[in-house]
Amino acid sequence: MLVIPELVDDCRLRCQLCWNAKRKPSGEVMPLSLVDRIVNVYRRHWIAWYNWGDPVLHPDLGGVADRIKNTKSIISSTFSSSLSNAQIDAIRSFRTVIYSISGMTAKTAGIYHRGIDYNISRKNLARISPGLANRLVIRWLCHPENEHELEQCRRMANDLNASLDVVEMTFSVEDQLAGADHNMLGHRKQTARTCLALDRIPISVQGEYLLCCHTRNVLTGLTIDDEPSLEDIKQAKLKHPLCQQCRDRDLWRMYF
Ligand SMILES: C[S@@+](CC[C@H](N)C(=O)[O-])C[C@H]1O[C@@H](n2cnc3c(N)ncnc32)[C@H](O)[C@@H]1O
Ligand code: SF4
Ligand code: SF4
Repeated sequence: MLVIPELVDDCRLRCQLCWNAKRKPSGEVMPLSLVDRIVNVYRRHWIAWYNWGDPVLHPDLGGVADRIKNTKSIISSTFSSSLSNAQIDAIRSFRTVIYSISGMTAKTAGIYHRGIDYNISRKNLARISPGLANRLVIRWLCHPENEHELEQCRRMANDLNASLDVVEMTFSVEDQLAGADHNMLGHRKQTARTCLALDRIPISVQGEYLLCCHTRNVLTGLTIDDEPSLEDIKQAKLKHPLCQQCRDRDLWRMYF
């Protein structure tokens, strides 16, 4: 089970396949009091502090870092905004740090990550990685326009003692612009017989339990104030009309 609280519903980038390419994020940030509550309830589980936003934009990342100490927490970003030394230290305190990058030059990175400042991104990676005791993962969306740089990325991951997570895209970014829709990444071999998203617990910046990451901001009706059990959350999802429809029609299969 993975808990997915949205620390910040905002991002300065507009990556081609991300929901943010087509919407205006609200700009809301999660209050530290809610971070505290989530940590108290889900301390034993893995917690990914981002859904469809950039978690490093939280105005008090140091405060978040203090609260997630000793938890199994994950952060993910392109790290392409200006970061203070205190923010870099805060990022380094997450148990898993994921660096999302899909190009080894400003030109190729910019094909997918629209709006990225590649130089800042790489400089920040160079500040985050030295002597990192926690796990570093490089996440690379591989498409026909950047596959010639994958070996270079592999060497970088090796040099940084990082794992490399390659997500295969079966079509070019240009094709995507021509009409292929959002959730088209076929990177996980589909072996599950039921929807895996039922075991993921996305929570909005305001503490609302969401249906799943794939339907993005659809509410279940439960909030953190309801103090629901994991079973309560699962049942709320299964009773939700959209969830029922999705399962009846096997729509969920296209998400994984
Ligand atoms: C949505 S982002 C949120 C965290 C942060 N902004 C980042 O880019 O790492 C988390 C991960 O989802 C990936 N992603 C973006 N759009 C996606 C999509 N349509 N399907 C699957 N993964 C996607 C990104 O490349 C990134 O590695
Ligand atoms: S940086 Fe992350 S959240 Fe922002 S647009 Fe790209 S994938 Fe989406
Ligand atoms: S069945 Fe569909 S709507 Fe329900 S959790 Fe799975 S992917 Fe989301």
